[in-house]
Amino acid sequence: MPTLVQPALPEPRGPISLSVVELLAERAQLRYVTRVETSLGDADPAGLDLQLALYLCYELHYRGFADVDAGWEWNPGLLYLRGRLEDLFLQDVRREVGEIEPDASALDELDKLCIEPVDGAGPSYFLRDEGTWEQMREYFAHRSLYHLKEGDPHAWAIPRLTGQAKASFVAVEFDEFGGGKGARLHQQLFADLMAAAGLDTTYLGYLADATAESLAVVNLMSMFGLHRRLRGSAVGHFAATEVTSPPGSRRMVQALERLGAPEECCAFYREHIVADAVHEQVVRTDVVGDLVAREPDLDRDVVFGIRAFDAVENRLADHLMACWRAGVPSLRRALN
Ligand SMILES: [Fe+2]
Ligand SMILES: [Fe+2]
Repeated sequence: MPTLVQPALPEPRGPISLSVVELLAERAQLRYVTRVETSLGDADPAGLDLQLALYLCYELHYRGFADVDAGWEWNPGLLYLRGRLEDLFLQDVRREVGEIEPDASALDELDKLCIEPVDGAGPSYFLRDEGTWEQMREYFAHRSLYHLKEGDPHAWAIPRLTGQAKASFVAVEFDEFGGGKGARLHQQLFADLMAAAGLDTTYLGYLADATAESLAVVNLMSMFGLHRRLRGSAVGHFAATEVTSPPGSRRMVQALERLGAPEECCAFYREHIVADAVHEQVVRTDVVGDLVAREPDLDRDVVFGIRAFDAVENRLADHLMACWRAGVPSLRRALN
C-alpha cells in the first residue's frame, strides 16, 4: 500500500474557511489575480474558522491537499486573503504578548525560560500526576498537527540566516530530520508513537478534530517561517521550542511510564530529553547568540518570537486544562 502523502481537505468551520475550501476545489488560474474578498469585520482571530482558513493556506506550501491544484500555492488572489488573515492573527498575538521592554534581550529571555517552576501547572504536569490514558491520547492527537511535520515549519528560516547561526540551526534541524535516516525522522518517531497508541498516523489525520488553539500553535511557526521580515521571531520560536523541550519531555516520559504506555510512546519523548539538552545549548549560544551579534536589530524580534510561542502554547494549555478539569473531551470529536 503506498503511503498517503497528501491529506484530504477538511470541512469548513465558518464563512472564512468556507471561502478557502470552495476556492481550492476549483482549478487554480495562474493569471487569476482577483482578490479573494471575505468579510473579516467581526472575525475572531483566535477562533476556529480563521485559524482553519489560515492553516489551509499554509498547508499549500507543505504537502498541499489531495485533488487540490498545486497552482494555488502562489495565487495572488489567495495570498491577498492569507495576508489579511495573518495581519489579524499577528495583531492578536502582539496584543497578548504586550509591549516588549526597550532593554529586553533574547539571551536573557532564554535564561528566564530555563527556570522551571517547582509547582508548575499545565498539561505535562497534569498528565504526569493524574491524567488518564484517554487524555494522553487526546494530547497526542492535538500535537500530531505539529509533530507529523516536526522540523518543517522552522526550516523555512534557513535561507534567511548566515554564518554560524545558519550552520548551527541546520545542525539542530539535521537531528530533527533523523540525521540522515528516514526511520529516525522525528516525524516518523511520532507516527510510530501514534500507531502504538492506536491512533491514526495519517498526516493531518486529526485536522478536523483539532481546536483553534492547536491550529494556532502550528500557524504561528508557519507565519514566522514564511516571512523573511519575521526571521528573528522564527529563530526565537525555534529556540523556545528547543529550550522548553527537555523538561516537558521528561514529564511526559514520567506520565507514560506511570500509565504503562507502549515503548514507542516513551521513545519519542526520551529522544527529546537527550537530543534537546544538546540543542538547547547550541541554539542559545550558536544560533541566537550569533544572530543577535550579527544583526542586533533583530534582538527584540527574537524576544517577540519567544514570547509569542509562550502565548499560543498557554492558550492551548488553558484549553486542555479547562476540558480535563471539567472531565470533557478536549478534541472537537471524541476519539474512538
Ligand atoms: Fe524533535
Ligand atoms: Fe530538538
